[in-house]
Order: sequence, then C-alpha cells, then structure tokens
Amino acid sequence: MHTELLTALLTLVMGSFASQEHFQSFDDGVRPTAQQCCNSLEAVLVSSVILYPGSSGYTDQLGSYYSLDQATQRPACRIAPSTAEDVALIVKYATSSRCEFAVRSGGHMSWEGSSNIGHNGFTIDLEGLKLIELQDGGETLSIAPGLTWGEVYAFLKPHGLHTVGARSPGVGVGGFLLGGGVSFLSTEHGLGSDNVLDYEVVLSNGSIVHANKAERSDLFWALKGGSTNYGIVTRFLMPTMPLTQLWGGFLTYSANAVPQLYERMVKVTDQLKVDPRGLMIICTAWNPATKEHTVWALALYLAPHEYPSPLFDGLQDIAPIGGTTRVTNLGEILDEAGQALPKSQYSQWFTLTFKADAKLPWDVQLKGEDIFGDLESSDAHWEVLVQPMNEGMFSAGQKRGGNPFGLSRTHENLCLVMLVMVFWTNPEESALIKAKTQEYLKVSMDLARERGLLTEFIYANYASGTQNVLESYGEENIKKMRAVKEKYDPNNLLEVWKGGWKL
Ligand SMILES: Cc1cc2nc3c(=O)[nH]c(=O)nc-3n(C[C@H](O)[C@H](O)[C@H](O)COP(=O)(O)OP(=O)(O)OC[C@H]3O[C@@H](n4cnc5c(N)ncnc54)[C@H](O)[C@@H]3O)c2cc1C
Ligand SMILES: *[C@@H]1O[C@H](CO)[C@@H](O)[C@H](O)[C@H]1NC(C)=O
Repeated sequence: MHTELLTALLTLVMGSFASQEHFQSFDDGVRPTAQQCCNSLEAVLVSSVILYPGSSGYTDQLGSYYSLDQATQRPACRIAPSTAEDVALIVKYATSSRCEFAVRSGGHMSWEGSSNIGHNGFTIDLEGLKLIELQDGGETLSIAPGLTWGEVYAFLKPHGLHTVGARSPGVGVGGFLLGGGVSFLSTEHGLGSDNVLDYEVVLSNGSIVHANKAERSDLFWALKGGSTNYGIVTRFLMPTMPLTQLWGGFLTYSANAVPQLYERMVKVTDQLKVDPRGLMIICTAWNPATKEHTVWALALYLAPHEYPSPLFDGLQDIAPIGGTTRVTNLGEILDEAGQALPKSQYSQWFTLTFKADAKLPWDVQLKGEDIFGDLESSDAHWEVLVQPMNEGMFSAGQKRGGNPFGLSRTHENLCLVMLVMVFWTNPEESALIKAKTQEYLKVSMDLARERGLLTEFIYANYASGTQNVLESYGEENIKKMRAVKEKYDPNNLLEVWKGGWKL
C-alpha cells in the first residue's frame, strides 16, 4: 500500500513533466523518475507491451518469478518488447536518460533484484521474445530469451533433438546461458554457454550486433560468463544433438544412507573421465513437518543401460526407500526434475565449489540445524544439492573456445559444486532468515576452507547476490573481461542495469 501511495503521489507531482518534449532534455543532468521513463518509452516503442501496477498483465508477470523475494518487488512499469529493435530503443533511451532497469528472462534467479526492481526503476520482461527456429538443416537452433527451456525442448522433441539447456523446464534461456549453465549433457559437452555459437546482442548505445568466433570474438568470449555487463542478448544460436533413450530416475533414501551415498558419488565423479555419459546428483533436505532430513539422488546415464558399470558399481548396494529409475527419454526426466524443487516461496541460495569429498556436504546440511534450529514453529527449511564439476566439463568448454570462468586453473580434476537453498513462506521472518543464510554461507565456506577443500570458483547461477562471483574467475580473466567492457561499453552506461554481477 505504501508503494502504491508513493507512486500515486509521484504521478501527481511529476505527471505533468512526463510529456514528449522532455524526452530530449533528460540528458542535461536531471534524472527522470521511473514513472517518467515509462511514460516517455511508451510514446516511442513500437512492438512492446507496457504494463503498470494494478493491471492483470503486470500481476501475471510478477507471478512468473520463481522466488517470492523477486515477485514482491513493484517496478514502476514492466515493458515486454517483442523485437530486438524495441529492446534497442529501450536500452538507448534508458542509458542516455539514466533510467534504472532490470531484465527478466525466465525469472528463476532467486535473489531479490537479480531480475526485478522496485518502484524506482522498470523491468524489461523478455517474455515477448519467443522466436525459435532450426537452421542449417536442423544442426543448429536459434532461440530468443523469452523462451523457457521447457518450451525449447517441446519444440525440439518432434525432431528427435535436444540441446545443452537447463534440467528444469521453467528456467529461462537468458539467465541460464549468461551465467554458464549446467545441463544433463555438460560432462560431455561443457556448460550451456560453452555451446553458444552466436549471440545477437543489444549494446549499451542501442546498436544490435552479433558476436561469434569470427566476428567480435572478444565479446563472444566474455558473454559466455558475462552476466549483466555487456548487453541484452536477444538471440542465441545453439547446436542440436539427437535425443537419445537413456536410463535414470530419482531414488529416495533414509538419512542414514547419506555417508555411503556421498562416497559413491565421489567414485562416480572420478569414473566420469572414463565414461562421461553419466550423472549423479544428491540432495538432502530438512523436512519442517517431520523434523527430519529427507534424501534423494538422481542417477542418470545417457544410453539405455541399467546401472552401467563401472560408473554406478556399488550404487545398488545402498538400499533406496523408493525409486523411479527406468529406461526412458530425457523429456520424462525433465518433467520429474521440474517437481523436485519447491515453488512460490521465499528463497535464498548460496554456492561453493570444493574438492570431491564425501563428508563435507552432509556436515553442511547438519550445520543448518544449529543455524535454523530456533525457528521451531516456522516452515523454514534448507536443502543441500551436490553435483559433479569434473575435468571433462572443463575441457569440453576449452575445446569450444573457452570461457571466463577460469575452471582450468583448478588442478583438482574432481570437484563438486554445492548449492544450498533456504526456503520459507512468512514474510515477517525474511529479515531474520536472510541474516541466518548469510551466517550459514560463512560457516559453510569456513568449514570447506579449514578442511583444505575450498576451490576458488563460484558458480553464478547458484550464487547469492552477496557472493563475489566475478572475482572468483581469477585476475587474468577479470582483466580480459574489463578490457572487453572498455571496448563495448566504455562509459559504463549499463550501470543503470541493476541485477547480476557487475565488473
Ligand atoms: C527450479 C530451478 C532449476 C534450475 N536448474 C538449473 C540447472 O539445471 N542448471 C543450472 O545451471 N542452473 C539451474 N538453475 C539456476 C538457473 O540457471 C539460474 O537461476 C538462471 O539465472 C535462471 O535463468 P532465468 O532466465 O530463468 O533467470 P532470470 O532471473 O530471468 O535472469 C537471471 C539473470 O540473467 C540476466 N539475463 C536474463 N536474460 C538475459 C539476456 N537475454 N541478456 C542479458 N542478461 C540476461 C538477468 O538480468 C538476471 O541478472 C535452476 C534454478 C531453478 C529455480
Ligand atoms: C555502439 O558501440 C559500438 C561498440 O563500441 C560501436 O562499434 C558502434 O559504432 C556504436 N554505435 C553507435 C550508433 O554509436
């Protein structure tokens, strides 16, 4: 109510200034209000839908965010362009008039402000950019960032094809590919961004350019982990792969199986160098209803073989309490994975990458009890999700031209990446739980460091807004990224783009 009152007041006071003739005069040093930015843009945009608070379209767009922390932010307006030309008009106007904005693709990043903004800015919602087409006789796929991976896979399925996208259907094409992107195919093919063959991108001055191996190869490299520093990508060109039959599914376990499970996972991760077609993910979660930890593992093999050897040797000796492993296709696994994480809750995440170790993840899970234990009557809960990041993944990326992540610096062939997620539903607990999550982050990092297990890399797509993601790519890469920034956005005009990680 407070925000609405303020917006109404602002409109009353400022409304008369928001006329066309002021479009020009904003660059003389006076920063327009967000409301004025919206009104001015409304007058010039050709193919965009502009939504204001109170409209059902505005409310619908907010409802599409994964985390309530983002869904409860109230931008002055939401602009949904349906062409790259309109994206260019918006960026050109916003950077020259210094209007603050955020950019949303699938809205699946968890932290507040990563892809939405409060009343002092507007949000560019890419949902209208849905073009998708096969090119080169089906060998490549051109996709726009308004698509979710679920939509991409549904388009590819009748062609018997797949690509290196997210493992959950609701995740957006844009955010996933600007942060890296771990796919079911990553051990063999590298991260999602390693596979991008061409970017169509709107630069800070509003020009629409392409970046690929042959053209602007510096920008091409930087965009593979570029976050929100270089421009808004309006098209990605990706390779396609045949969609194969596979074996896999989810297995549930009792908590006392966890130590053995993680030992098994370290072995699986090691064996991926022999056979990169497998994957194992383990998730341990506090159940606030039963006050116990629940445990699931995803076991997957990209060919129709049950428990392939040597990869999954010994896994069957650990008795599950339930399971869905079978020979199936990736679409079915994706649907299952879509159910695996809770929705419509407040959530805070953080991540760390560590030398493959069977003990650390469970110790981190148990630390959660110390930290959140006094929230007895709350539904607050936390999950620790662990998956391999192995040499195969790094070298697959290297082979495709490299990326800014600096993964080849780690001499550890065997790394695991840990995603810690905290969920709750009561907004009155938000301040307390956010503070506790930051404490949890520190405790977990310290534990990994004390044991000599911590590696430098911080994975953007799993990180908290407070983590130093770009610094973790190493000095060399940061220097290179800065040089690219200097070339394509020399005056840091994109400073008005909020969210993501800034150089
Ligand atoms: C249920 C669930 C499942 C997930 N599964 C996976 C997984 O399998 N593998 C994995 O690696 N990660 C996974 N993630 C993490 C996910 O990759 C990140 O949250 C990612 O940022 C989401 O992308 P998005 O487009 O939905 O997010 P958004 O919140 O819309 O965007 C994230 C960031 O990217 C920027 N951005 C978006 N589009 C563009 C663009 N076109 N140009 C420039 N910048 C842009 C935004 O401004 C923002 O800063 C998952 C997350 C959830 C919630
Ligand atoms: C926009 O910036 C790019 C990169 O710096 C430059 O090549 C291009 O000429 C600029 N376009 C305009 C219209 O100024």
